[in-house]
Amino acid sequence: MNQLAEHLSPLPDVAEEVRDFYDRYPYPPPVDNLEKYKQLWQDPQRRRADYHLFWPSQSYREDQTILVAGCGTSQAAKHALRWPAAKVTGIDCSATSVLRTEQLKQKYDLKNLEVHRFPLERVSDLGMSFDQIVCTGVLHHLADPDAGLKALRNVLEPNGAMHLMVYAPYGRAGIYMLQDFCRRIGIRATDADIRDLKSALSALPPGHPLESLLSQAPDFRHEAALADALLHPQDRAYSVPQLFDFIEKAGLKFGRWVRQAPYSVYCGAIARIPQASQLARLSVAEQYAAIELFRGTMARHSIIVHRSDNSSNVQQLSFSGDDWLRFVPIRMSDTICVQDRLPRGASAVLINQTHTYRDLFLPITPAEKRLFDSIDGVRSISDIVKTTLPPADRNADMARSFFERLWWHDQLVFDRSVRSAI
Ligand SMILES: C[S@@+](CC[C@H](N)C(=O)[O-])C[C@H]1O[C@@H](n2cnc3c(N)ncnc32)[C@H](O)[C@@H]1O
Repeated sequence: MNQLAEHLSPLPDVAEEVRDFYDRYPYPPPVDNLEKYKQLWQDPQRRRADYHLFWPSQSYREDQTILVAGCGTSQAAKHALRWPAAKVTGIDCSATSVLRTEQLKQKYDLKNLEVHRFPLERVSDLGMSFDQIVCTGVLHHLADPDAGLKALRNVLEPNGAMHLMVYAPYGRAGIYMLQDFCRRIGIRATDADIRDLKSALSALPPGHPLESLLSQAPDFRHEAALADALLHPQDRAYSVPQLFDFIEKAGLKFGRWVRQAPYSVYCGAIARIPQASQLARLSVAEQYAAIELFRGTMARHSIIVHRSDNSSNVQQLSFSGDDWLRFVPIRMSDTICVQDRLPRGASAVLINQTHTYRDLFLPITPAEKRLFDSIDGVRSISDIVKTTLPPADRNADMARSFFERLWWHDQLVFDRSVRSAI
């Protein structure tokens, strides 16, 4: 069979409609230049922070086996560029996605990348298992997401970590309204219908629940993005409790949010509402569920999960006892330290630029700024405190609360694998 014929043959287990949809409207839109991406990930600190986001308690390594399930047009190639020593496998049911990934593999000579046109439901037929599985924007499109997630869980190594992204319902209310609008009128995923839909959207009345998404997501200017959001043949969303149920049923457990500040009772406007201390008394799962309702506009959840039969992969951080003094803080990429137009008493304001909510900034005092400036990704908290603060200013409670706040605000991750002296 020639390459194209092989790519276009039917795939059992995958809804024909979904496969055909992505063949015609691959999303994200194909790219052929990954130079900027490659440059960005040359930074060893960025790679270390990313590694310890998934595995805080394991020693750093770069030779993982990675599965990108439903890899789309470029995600598997990006992972292969990001981790040259890793072995990356991309699978996707769409011929267009696989061909685009093959082209990137040739162009960037990615010998560490294999790509297959393959349904993720049958991933175990590859006869492989993986340290890391990335599956973003895929499971919510499957006919049976539970079966899909279980299939992925079955090929995750005992110490493995999985990155999932699924849609969230409340922030997508406007999308679901417009999906229904399109269904009722019979608007379909064709070039002509999408063109007309674009012009209809420009006439949406002010205050429509889709309005803010349209203005915040410049992506919506592209046909493929519009089709993916409004004309997808299969799409569901998970509230926080539904998401926790989904992962538990698949034999997985919550590790952390990829960005946790938006869900945290300690960050942003929610930390200052009159009910903040009542919220803090709830279990963390209940806190996250309540905060999703309060924020009201979350459109997706990005989560890191582990196998529930392995207790060594505990992400939950404890600042009780003395262990926290041994943690090595590593600054997260995309964070900035702003020093102008500061609130009163602040020496700087820390911002993670990947946060979409504007209330998640962290003002810090002069003493905290000295600690923050000493984070070099090598020294433990204990070393930082000893070398930065004069003995009279060395207050364990202040340091503990500051590093905990930095962690909740997505300013840093910890390497907890180092067993140095305190
Ligand atoms: C919205 S795209 C996301 C692509 C990529 N994961 C990303 O985040 O950029 C969804 C991808 O999942 C693929 N897909 C959908 N159902 C699949 C299945 N059952 N098995 C494998 N791939 C699937 C589609 O072909 C499409 O390329």
